[in-house]
Amino acid sequence: MSDQPSILPLAIEGLSYEIGGCRLVGVDRALITKGRRTVVLGPNGAGKTLFLKLCHGLIAPSQGTVAFAGGIKPAARRQAMVLQRPVLLRRSVAGNLRHALAVAGFGYLERRRRTVRMLDQFGLADLSDRPARVLSGGEQQRLAIARAVSVEPELLFLDEPASGLDPSATRQIEEILLGLHADGLTWVMTTHDLAQARRLADDILFFHAGRLIEAAPADRFFAEPDTDAARAFLESRLFW
Ligand SMILES: Nc1ncnc2c1ncn2[C@@H]1O[C@H](COP(=O)(O)OP(=O)(O)O)[C@@H](O)[C@H]1O
Ligand SMILES: [Mg+2]
Repeated sequence: MSDQPSILPLAIEGLSYEIGGCRLVGVDRALITKGRRTVVLGPNGAGKTLFLKLCHGLIAPSQGTVAFAGGIKPAARRQAMVLQRPVLLRRSVAGNLRHALAVAGFGYLERRRRTVRMLDQFGLADLSDRPARVLSGGEQQRLAIARAVSVEPELLFLDEPASGLDPSATRQIEEILLGLHADGLTWVMTTHDLAQARRLADDILFFHAGRLIEAAPADRFFAEPDTDAARAFLESRLFW
């Protein structure tokens, strides 16, 4: 992918995010490991989105650190984030890709080459000239992911990438994520969907009421969770 040193693992320590004296996120310690599919799991309001934004640097922690390997301050291109409701430009599907590549500094030929490849890889070739904003939810999400990975980041954050999509569109997104992982991308995604976490996760970071309360390999988390809150969530008794 690149001969630059890896920005992973990403180490999170003593992280806290507060607004008006109210602590919304608390994480004693967590590690995002290269090559592992990390799923941030928890009910609505658990702090998943805020945690992802803290990791990506969209918001600054009140306390604590998010540190890349070797103290690297990653350049914009090394990591990317796909928001829950992607913000697409008032341009065609291909235009959205070309614009992102231009902003990242790619030259004309490389922009064209990558745009064609992305349209193909993400099943968007037939939609290439369509205004991005008229796409279906699933198509918009595919475009948002294509745009994020077009600049070849090492690490991708995705916030509930399939929320609100029907089962078939959800499955498409999941296939795309598995393919990207197979191609060497490390990603971290949030979900409140237990079945999806089971399908996708190598590692689980389980959030409850703003705190990271369990971090474990997925097989262990699902077989023998440590906390009552995780057990309740797995048995769908936790509706908060
Ligand atoms: N800007 C904000 N101001 C005040 N409270 C917020 C803000 N953003 C999020 N929250 C609160 O923080 C908690 C965690 O939010 P969020 O990270 O969006 O949860 P999740 O993504 O797990 O559903 C929620 O109770 C939410 O209402
Ligand atoms: Mg959220």
